[in-house]
Parts: sequence; C-alpha cells; structure tokens
Amino acid sequence: MPDASQNLADPMHAAMARVDEVIRARLTSDVALIEQIGHYIVSAGGKRIRPRLVLLTAQALNFDGPEQYELAATVEFIHTATLLHDDVVDESLLRRGRQTANALFGNAASVLVGDFLYSRAFQMMVGVNRMRVLDVLADATNVIAEGEVLQLMNVHDADVTIANYLRVIRFKTAKLFEASARLGAVLAGAPPAVETACADYGRALGTAFQLVDDALDYTGQAANLGKNAGDDLREGKPTLPLLLAMTHGSAEEAATIRRAIEQGDSEHLAEIIAIVQATGAIAATLEAARAEAEVARQALLHALPPTQAREALLELAVSSVARTY
Ligand code: IPE
Ligand code: IPE
Ligand code: MG
Ligand code: MG
Repeated sequence: MPDASQNLADPMHAAMARVDEVIRARLTSDVALIEQIGHYIVSAGGKRIRPRLVLLTAQALNFDGPEQYELAATVEFIHTATLLHDDVVDESLLRRGRQTANALFGNAASVLVGDFLYSRAFQMMVGVNRMRVLDVLADATNVIAEGEVLQLMNVHDADVTIANYLRVIRFKTAKLFEASARLGAVLAGAPPAVETACADYGRALGTAFQLVDDALDYTGQAANLGKNAGDDLREGKPTLPLLLAMTHGSAEEAATIRRAIEQGDSEHLAEIIAIVQATGAIAATLEAARAEAEVARQALLHALPPTQAREALLELAVSSVARTY
C-alpha cells in the first residue's frame, strides 16, 4: 500500500515523517492490546491526506510552529478511529492491504481501540491549548458521527435523493477534510475570509474524494485500493453510481439496481458494474467529483498567496479525482 511518509521524492517527506513520529509517540499505552492494534493499522500507512492538509494550509499561510505536527497527527487519529468503527459497521475485511482490525482482533476490540484513538485525539488537541482548535474538532467529530448514522438510516433505501446522499458524504467524509484545512488557517491566525476559503477548499476536496471513492467501489481493484471493491453493493448502500444508474438506465436496469439496494447483493456485482458503466453513471459520478475539485481549486486560488504549498494543495484537488487507490 502507498505510504505517504515513505516517498522520498515528496517535498513534504520530512514534514510527513515528523507527523509519523508524533503518531507513533502518541500511540503509547500501558494496555498492550491498544498498542498492538494501534500500530497494526497505523503501520499499514494510508494516504495521510488529512494531516497533509493541515501542514500545507499552515505553510501556505506562513505558519511554522510545532503545533501543526501535533494537529496533523490529531486529525489522522480521528480518521483512524472512524476507520476502525466504520469497518465494524460495514463488516469490511480488508483495509490498507491488510485484514481489517475487526477481522483479525474482533469487533469489540476494534470499537474500543477506536474509542481510545478518539479520546487520545482530544487529549492532543487540548494540549495545543487553543479554544478555536477545540471548537473546530469537536464540531467535526460530532458531524462525522451524524454522517455515519444518517448513512445507516439510508441503507437499503433505493428512494434516497441525491441531495440526501450528498449530505451524508459531506458529513461523514468532507467535514474532516474541511476541519483539517481550516486548522492550518486557525494556527496561522488567518483573517476570517481566508479561514473560510480554506474550509471551503477542504469541504469541496473531501466531497470529491468520497465521490471518487464511491465510483472506485465499482471500478477499482482490491490490489490497488487496499480494500475490497463491491462492499457498498453488498451492504445495499445507495451511493451516487447506483442512484444515477436508476435514473439513466432502462426500466429493467433500474429494477435490477433497486433490488440490489433493497436486498444488498454480493452475487451480481459484475452485472451491476456493467449497468453503472453502460448508463454513464460512473462517468457522471467522476464528473461530479471533477466539478467539486474545481470548486476546491477556485476557493484557494483567490484566497491564498501563490506559494509552493498552495500549488501542492491545488494539485491535491486534481490528483484526488484522478486516483485509482
Ligand atoms: C478512507 O479514507 C475513508 C474515506 C473517506 C473514503 P482514505 O482513503 O483517506 O483512507 P487511508 O487513510 O488512505 O487508508
Ligand atoms: C468513509 O466511509 C467515512 C468514514 C470512515 C467516516 P466508507 O465506508 O465510505 O469508506 P471505506 O470505503 O470503508 O473506506
Ligand atoms: Mg466502510
Ligand atoms: Mg462506511
């Protein structure tokens, strides 16, 4: 699996390695199983996009203090906690190219270690000693939880509207991207308009990221993704590729998709993939992602001075849509 801290050609290599050091240092616990599971999931890498957002927005606004590394690690801990919980809820078996923690250690251990990482994240943000930071992250974690519950309510519902789906992904995924980009601006003491622009960038980028993720659940390969494709269909999750396939497809195709959402389906994945491709639903989902990525770029272009860090943020919007993992 790609591990962002291992790429020596990356101009952010040293900074990301420093985040990795904080992550490892903060994983300590006297309870052996916590360290075992914590290291198991963290050492598998991951793209580390959210910590990168904290560092790049801070740097783009000329902030150079050590708090950026602490908060970068904090958002990765929050992300990791949500993954531990999410894989239990989604009954997923593969994450970052490895067996999920729930598959290996069981649901109970995954939920409880997720709670440890969540509460460790709060200890870390309190350590930064800034009320605005607490404000941003308390709000973000609360909204992420709402997003996961909203999505739970939508499972097996083929009549979910696109607006409702978008609300779910803005809550469960985009909110942490938004908070990460906002935190860089908060650390830098940026004026409100600049902070808002960074938050807007993060929210649009996170939305694009989840739209692509939902397309990859039909078009991706486990070997690249590090997680199994087809999980969303098996669970009966009404994601945009399925919602669009129902509106664009023939009556027969729409009925096939509706049945798959209502019952959950792991047997007809190939047939459903053929339908989402043929109806243009995948292309339209990726087009929606591209449009969000452009919103993200525009938010930054007008608000931040032209620096290498801003270029990296703009580039991240493009690569998040082009990704295959
Ligand atoms: C996975 O996030 C959950 C989603 C929001 C789709 P990432 O794709 O950033 O996961 P890692 O950290 O790289 O494993
Ligand atoms: C991603 O959920 C959002 C959170 C973990 C909060 P998904 O269920 O869509 O992501 P994957 O596909 O498991 O990574
Ligand atoms: Mg999941
Ligand atoms: Mg999920």
